[in-house]
Amino acid sequence: MIPEKNPPAAASAGVPDENIIARLRAAGCVYAEEEARLLLAAASTPDELAGMVERRAAGSPLEHVIGWAEFAGLRIAVEPGVFVPRLRTEFLVRQAVSLARPGAVVLDLCCGTGALGAAVAAAHAGIELHAADLDPAAVKCARRNVAAFGGLVYEGDLFRPLPESLRGRVDVLLANTPYVPTAAIERMPAEARLHEARVALDGGADGLDVQRRVAAEAALWLAPGGHLLVEASEEQAPETAALFAQNGFAPQVVRCDDWDATVVRGTPSHRDVAG
Ligand SMILES: C[S@@+](CC[C@H](N)C(=O)[O-])C[C@H]1O[C@@H](n2cnc3c(N)ncnc32)[C@H](O)[C@@H]1O
Repeated sequence: MIPEKNPPAAASAGVPDENIIARLRAAGCVYAEEEARLLLAAASTPDELAGMVERRAAGSPLEHVIGWAEFAGLRIAVEPGVFVPRLRTEFLVRQAVSLARPGAVVLDLCCGTGALGAAVAAAHAGIELHAADLDPAAVKCARRNVAAFGGLVYEGDLFRPLPESLRGRVDVLLANTPYVPTAAIERMPAEARLHEARVALDGGADGLDVQRRVAAEAALWLAPGGHLLVEASEEQAPETAALFAQNGFAPQVVRCDDWDATVVRGTPSHRDVAG
């Protein structure tokens, strides 16, 4: 997480130049005025502002250019190449917040910026927060974002980097894994396709490769009565729910049409899977 206030803006009045707005608009930025205002607030000098405008006009995600994204009311640091947390994923966070209790042990797997874990920790007192990601750039970014909550971030493949002491202790395990089928990546908007790491998007042939592995191992890490929650596409949700069921979870699919968000959640229905 980063402070709300940015350094003094590059232009004294704080009103974006019409040329900047026109440049952004010509580059296809639908919210050119709002973006110009954010770029102005983020830049410390006119030269820096000019560079930012050009990066944005060339297609970099706004969040990579200004260095932060708003997520669940928090200002989350976002570094180049790292997945930008999406509005729809606030639905997953809401589900996790509703299941967590003060002092709960929360694990944010495939954490990216760490936005999800940070948002759950912000909602309840005393959360013990753990997060992990394969991508070193994401881990570095997540460490910045969860520091305020005393969160720990591990680098490595799914559960592998986690401390053994966490086994059987996680109350809420949330994961927004990559879930785009490989063949669909080329149809994604350029902002994602060209500026976010491939490992953040590619879920394998059917999009479920990472979810399959999460569902298979999650019960080992959950505390009795613990919850697993993953984001899915609406189309994939039945298959994701089936993966949950195959691994001893009683799955529930929850949907928010306003945000086009789907979450599959569940608790192991028996403990013998937890070994
Ligand atoms: C769709 S992004 C989501 C990031 C973050 N949870 C969010 O919603 O903003 C998926 C993340 O999973 C990570 N990832 C992909 N495969 C992984 C694996 N095998 N182990 C750990 N992290 C992985 C990527 O590096 C990326 O940060």
